[in-house]
Amino acid sequence: MEKFKYPDINPLRIEMSDECQVYKGLEGICVKESRICYIDGKGSRLYYRGYNIMDLVEHSKYEEVVYLLLFGELPSREELESFERKLASKRRLPDGLRGLIRSLPKDSDPMDFLRTTVSAMSLFDDGGDETEKGIGLIAKAPVMLAEFHRYRSGLEPLEPREELSQAGNFLYMMFGKVPEGSEERVMDRAFLLLADHGLCASTFASLVTASTLADIYASITTAIGTLAGPLHGGANLQVLKMLEEVGSPDRAESYVEGMLKSGKRIWGFGHRVYKNFDPRYRAFKRMAREMAELRGRMDLFETAEKVEEAALKRLAHKNIYPNVDFYSGLVYYFLGIPQDLAITMFAISRMAGWVAHILEYWEQNRLIRPKAKYVGELDKKYVPIEER
Ligand SMILES: CC(C)(COP(=O)(O)OP(=O)(O)OC[C@H]1O[C@@H](n2cnc3c(N)ncnc32)[C@H](O)[C@@H]1OP(=O)(O)O)[C@@H](O)C(=O)NCCC(=O)NCCS
Repeated sequence: MEKFKYPDINPLRIEMSDECQVYKGLEGICVKESRICYIDGKGSRLYYRGYNIMDLVEHSKYEEVVYLLLFGELPSREELESFERKLASKRRLPDGLRGLIRSLPKDSDPMDFLRTTVSAMSLFDDGGDETEKGIGLIAKAPVMLAEFHRYRSGLEPLEPREELSQAGNFLYMMFGKVPEGSEERVMDRAFLLLADHGLCASTFASLVTASTLADIYASITTAIGTLAGPLHGGANLQVLKMLEEVGSPDRAESYVEGMLKSGKRIWGFGHRVYKNFDPRYRAFKRMAREMAELRGRMDLFETAEKVEEAALKRLAHKNIYPNVDFYSGLVYYFLGIPQDLAITMFAISRMAGWVAHILEYWEQNRLIRPKAKYVGELDKKYVPIEER
């Protein structure tokens, strides 16, 4: 056999490919076919696996929707019960992980905490395939967050309770008492409404990691890191701060007028995809009103409603409408969830969607490897350090 002949590498023959088009922010680019989530931004509709979110929030519960997102169909009663048992049985945190949580600074940023502990979960993995691990992440993330909250508040740790739902157990572990039915239902709906939202930045980021065939812990850790940025999670916290500044319903008009006149944005308004009302906003608004009545805080709800009206008058003609965050912060506030946990609430709800998209992507995996259009120089003469 003839010897392989290595080609000459002639630096003068470098060819620049300049046909490449730049899509800033990847706007309008589809990276996979998906059967999980459809957002109708003009029509103000959101679908999980073909079901309208408004039907799901009315008739379903979070566990049922997690099953739907992961396996593609609504479960039968037996399937749902068996899935609920599975989730509940995976809630207990390994001792090593609990030890790790107790070694972290009490003033850790909650998103840093969640990112770190989700990453550490891979070190305490008890086996099973990636779907099983994903279900473990969905089951354990709220438990880790509640454990962290108790630890930083100097409260006794609690064991998760298997007879409670995901929402019920989370509230129980946060506050040390089994929640009222109405509170559990509100928490359950809040989880459900944020369980997925197509290829938002964090979901896409998780797919980049998953596409290298790194495991699900690495992929979800990426997602949490991406969600932490202020352009993605966190506007609901800003809405609460804004309502505090407004103070009372009668000050809403002048507040909104002043903000817009000075070129500032109204938090909880506007969306890259929805150019109409965000359907999740309607569901959160209803829950915020229910909870405000329950807590005797209609003043706060009315302040929010007046800000909403004042902003709509001035922004709707530009297709800027309230988004999911306008009332979600109020709902968490009325449930007693500390304000600094706002983004982590988003993360523990979205865990279901992240896992579903990663599993779907692996069915037809392709390494995600875009390129940058090189606009720099080439063939510069190398200058030794002494001569620069
Ligand atoms: C979510 C958001 C980043 C989407 O923005 P986008 O689609 O990229 O739109 P742009 O930032 O290009 O804004 C388009 C126009 O609407 C205005 N606008 C957008 N959101 C606005 C808001 N909340 N309040 C006032 N004006 C707003 C912009 O000032 C801009 O006006 P101009 O064309 O006169 O300059 C933006 O609406 C925003 O910053 N909202 C507030 C933060 C928030 O609620 N985030 C949670 C999203 S779920």
